[in-house]
Amino acid sequence: MFKIILIFSLNSIILTQVFGASIIADEKLRNLEKAKEILDKYPLIDGHNDLPHMIRTNFMNRFGQFDLNDMKQSLISSTGKEGITHTDIKRIREGKLSGQFWAIYANCQTDAKDSVRRHLEQIDVVYRFVEKYSNDFQFVQKSGDIMPAFKNKKIISLLGLESGHAIDSSLAILRVFYELGVRYMTLTHNCDVPWATNNQIDRLANASSYGGLTKFGRKVIQEMNRLGMIVDLSHVSYQTMLDALDESKAPVMFSHSSVYSLCNHVRNVRDDVLLKLKQNNGILMINLYNGFIKCGNQVPTMNDIIAHFNYTKNLIGVDHIGIGADFDGVDLTPPDVDDVSKYPNLFAALIENGWNENDLAKIAGLNVIRVLADNEKYAKSVENMEPIDDYIDKTDLDPKYSECRTSF
Ligand SMILES: *[C@@H]1O[C@H](CO)[C@@H](O)[C@H](O)[C@H]1NC(C)=O
Ligand SMILES: *[C@@H]1O[C@H](CO)[C@@H](O)[C@H](O)[C@H]1NC(C)=O
Repeated sequence: MFKIILIFSLNSIILTQVFGASIIADEKLRNLEKAKEILDKYPLIDGHNDLPHMIRTNFMNRFGQFDLNDMKQSLISSTGKEGITHTDIKRIREGKLSGQFWAIYANCQTDAKDSVRRHLEQIDVVYRFVEKYSNDFQFVQKSGDIMPAFKNKKIISLLGLESGHAIDSSLAILRVFYELGVRYMTLTHNCDVPWATNNQIDRLANASSYGGLTKFGRKVIQEMNRLGMIVDLSHVSYQTMLDALDESKAPVMFSHSSVYSLCNHVRNVRDDVLLKLKQNNGILMINLYNGFIKCGNQVPTMNDIIAHFNYTKNLIGVDHIGIGADFDGVDLTPPDVDDVSKYPNLFAALIENGWNENDLAKIAGLNVIRVLADNEKYAKSVENMEPIDDYIDKTDLDPKYSECRTSF
C-alpha cells in the first residue's frame, strides 16, 4: 500500500515536471495572443518618446541619412555603430503602438540661448517624418481625430513639448506652440525656469525653501488651461507638482514618471501627489526606464514593472494610469520591454496579473484620450476669455537672460 502511494506521487511529480512547463508556456502564449487582440481593438497611445531627439543626436536632422522603416540598419550604415534605437515603423507595427506623443526636447544648456530655435527645429522633424512616411503617420491635434485615425491604422502623432524653457518665459510663445500643434508642455526639464522649480532641488536638504510655481508660473497654467494644452508634471519639483495641481482647472498628466513608493527617485511621484492626481482626474503615464522602475542599478524584471501598475491601480484606480515608456530617451530599458516592439509583452503580463480587458483598454489609450478631451472641454468653456498678456516680472529673470533679450 505504502509503496503504491509512493510510486503514484513520484509519477505525478514527473508528470508535473514534463507537462507543467508546457502548460505555463501555453498560458503565456494565450495571454500574448489576447494582449495583441486587445491592442487591435483599442488604441495604445504612449505619453513620451524621444525619437525626434534621437534623430537630432545621430543624424543632425538630415533625412537623407536614415530610413524610419528600420533605424537599426540606418544607425549601422550611417554611423557604423549599433547605438541605441528603440523606435522605427517596423517595430511600432510589431508592438501595436497606435499613437505617440513625440517629445519636443532641447537640453537645459539651450536655456537663455537658442532654446526657442532648437525646440522649433524638433517640431520640424516631426512634421517632416509625418509627411515623408504619410502612409504610416498622421498628425493629430484633437482628441476627436484619434479614433478615426486608429481605424485607418495610422500611427497617431501628437506633440508634447518637454521643456518649459522652450517658451522663454513668454505666454505669446506658449500660444504659438499651441498653434503649431503642441498638446502638452512639461513645465520644466532638469533645470528651473524663472517661474517653476525642477525635480533636482528635491535632492537638497533645504528643498522646501525653493518653492514651486511663482505668480507668473500660475499664469502659465491658466493660459495652458485656456488654450487646452495639458500641464505635464514629469520632471518638475514636488512643490511645483502641488502648486500646479492646486492651480489647474483641467486634468494634468505625468507623461513619463513612475511610483516613488517603489523606487524613491526624484523623477517619480509620491503617494500624496498621486491622491491629488486622482481628485484632479489626471493621469500617471508609467515610465519603463530601468532607473525609475528599480532603484539601485538593478535590471528590472517584468514583475518589477507590473508592481508599479498594481500599486497605482490600488492607490488611485485604473482610470488614472497610462504608459509613457520614454523610449529613445533613455539608455537602459527592461529586457522584457526593451523597445516599441515589446508592448504586447507588457499587456500579456498584466493579463497574467489579473488585469481585465476593460482595464487594459483604459491604460492603453482611453484614459489619456479622456484627459486630452477634458482639457479641450475646459478650453471650450472659457472660450470668451481673452489671452493673458502679462509679462514675467523683470526681477524674476536671472541676469543671464539679458544676453538673449535686446530689451525687456
Ligand atoms: C540651500 O542650501 C544650499 C547649501 O547647502 C545653499 O547654497 C542654498 O542657497 C540654499 N537654498 C535656499 C533656497 O535657501
Ligand atoms: C498584482 O496584483 C494582482 C492582483 O492583486 C496580484 O495577483 C499579483 O500578484 C500582483 N503582481 C505583482 C507583480 O505585484
